[in-house]
Amino acid sequence: MNAKVQIAKTQISNRQGASFPVRRMNFNFDNVPEYWMDGSAGLTHFMTALSALFPAGEQLFIDSVRAVRYHPAIKDNKALQKEISAFIGQEAMHTHEHVGFNASAQKFGHDVATLEKNTDSVIQFGRKFFAKAMKPFGYSQEMIDLTATTALEHFTATIASELLTNPHIQALMTDDTMRYMWMWHAVEENEHKAVAYDVYQGIFGTGAKSYALRTVALVIAISMILATQAQFTLRLLKADKKLNFKELLMIYKYAYSPSKGIITGFAGEIFTYFRPQFHPNDLDTVALLEKWKAKLGL
Ligand SMILES: [Fe+2]
Ligand SMILES: [Fe+2]
Repeated sequence: MNAKVQIAKTQISNRQGASFPVRRMNFNFDNVPEYWMDGSAGLTHFMTALSALFPAGEQLFIDSVRAVRYHPAIKDNKALQKEISAFIGQEAMHTHEHVGFNASAQKFGHDVATLEKNTDSVIQFGRKFFAKAMKPFGYSQEMIDLTATTALEHFTATIASELLTNPHIQALMTDDTMRYMWMWHAVEENEHKAVAYDVYQGIFGTGAKSYALRTVALVIAISMILATQAQFTLRLLKADKKLNFKELLMIYKYAYSPSKGIITGFAGEIFTYFRPQFHPNDLDTVALLEKWKAKLGL
């Protein structure tokens, strides 16, 4: 592990037989600079906007899987039950650390607390709206939440594997603690990327109805998340009086340019979700994860 990274405590708790562990992290963000990403307000706020989505977003992931874990179709699947427990453990730890980082950004006067609340409002509005719209077709709130989580878990796994493979992005993460935190989160998103999908498939099966629901959900969920994150980035920049051409150009190059962008870079993998026989493990990240786990000392 990099000696400059400040983690007060790291413990691994194996959730009795799951295929991946729950690592207890406790990052110290006290010495993270205000513009930790290559000294750029634009890039830093772009990542902070992403981080602001996690506390409410990951709470939805946890709640939605927890709500259906004892559904008759999967309750006796012992292996899947262990994966679910570890999934909940990892997501809870991600939220804990992003809350810590978001509070440290708040310290510099960037109002991430409001963005966290706004994320929760968007999620609550979206999940209730779609549950109401789909009720006549026999879909419950729990089913809508699980479908959204399954789609968003594909989003997080693909953006995470882009983080782990894109050298342009890694080079811009100039603060060791922040780089470590994002890479740890990216590793774990790929470790547990199949859990929500396996729960979804266990309950909904693999037929045309299941396919239609999950693919429509992906389009809606990703549109909502990218629009919200872009709006948050602009709000952070505006409040910081840094909304200018130079910072926007940095964001374009880093996020949306065809050759280097984190958003454009994962577009290809995102669309694999539209294959009728898709499964998250089709995107083989085993060697990539081994490399990063060794690098991070995980
Ligand atoms: Fe996560
Ligand atoms: Fe996740």
